[in-house]
Amino acid sequence: MKTIITGDRPTGRMHLGHYFGSIQNRVKMQYDYDTYILIADVQALTDNFDNPDKVRKSVHELALDYLASGIDPKHSHIYIQSLIPEVAELTVYFSNLVTVSRLYRNPTTKHEANQKADKFGESGESITYGFLGYPVSQAADIIALDGDIVPVGEDQVPHIEQTREIARKFNSIYGETLKEPEAVLSETPRIKGLDGNEKMGKSLGNAIYLADSEEEITKKVMSAVTDPSKIKKDDPANPDICMVYYYHKLLKNSNLDTVCSECKAGSRGCVACKKELIKVMTEFLGPLQERRKYYEEHPEEVEQILKEGTMAARIRAQEVMKRVRKSMKLDYFEE
Ligand code: TRP
Repeated sequence: MKTIITGDRPTGRMHLGHYFGSIQNRVKMQYDYDTYILIADVQALTDNFDNPDKVRKSVHELALDYLASGIDPKHSHIYIQSLIPEVAELTVYFSNLVTVSRLYRNPTTKHEANQKADKFGESGESITYGFLGYPVSQAADIIALDGDIVPVGEDQVPHIEQTREIARKFNSIYGETLKEPEAVLSETPRIKGLDGNEKMGKSLGNAIYLADSEEEITKKVMSAVTDPSKIKKDDPANPDICMVYYYHKLLKNSNLDTVCSECKAGSRGCVACKKELIKVMTEFLGPLQERRKYYEEHPEEVEQILKEGTMAARIRAQEVMKRVRKSMKLDYFEE
């Protein structure tokens, strides 16, 4: 069985963008792969080093979001990154194999640093060693567990590319030791916001959280962007430029053909169409929120899941690190 390694930074709650961009894919794949999902608290600290409370709280939230989304602890190991010291060790060895200029060229880190001008300066002049280097630590996350496949959103592809480069470089210097993992993208790697933005994101203010209540969903859907040429309720409109229709499609409304033809014919008002979307969305999120509630009420079960997942990940990392140290001639006092 091939191994999946993937995960997220604990920095807040998960939204539909995360769900369709990566989580759904992991839920589907977990039955056919040995699956390890990490809660990347060390990586979250690279840009939240001054806010440990936020990271700590989000670790718990993320675990709940995973379990709510259908990550099944019988099929997946959910684990906490900082509790695998082997990953920190491997990060140090890997740091010799990456140039600083290569790190500066990573488009994802570059983009993120620009968004955090308050922390890293207007043109990134105050970027930290830790933030610039987090793709190296991410490579260690994947390789320390001998990952074959990494199901992620498209923003992560440059990191997986860097991971592969590091593995190749390691193997060329120290001998064939490490696997070269592969990224796997979802069918819907990026979803648009109800506001028409190309992306859903917390910082964009257009996120629909998996844990949103019906009131929150109603508020967000009612303000969605529709075809601007439709002024009156019975004007015909173009569903292809309507965000409400986009979400009907995304959430697989069984009534989709009717939504489309009525919209085109002008026999469906936007308010009615939005109300239908609210219903589809709350029905979609219902089972997730029920599972979330169960785990919220059973924190000791969540803790046990994380403990067991972490233990399984650690055992794997210890095996891989034996190989790594041997190849690097660091296997002192080994039999
Ligand atoms: N960079 C990922 C994110 O921002 C989180 C992450 C850390 C990750 N280590 C990983 C993803 C290893 C896949 C594999 O969400």
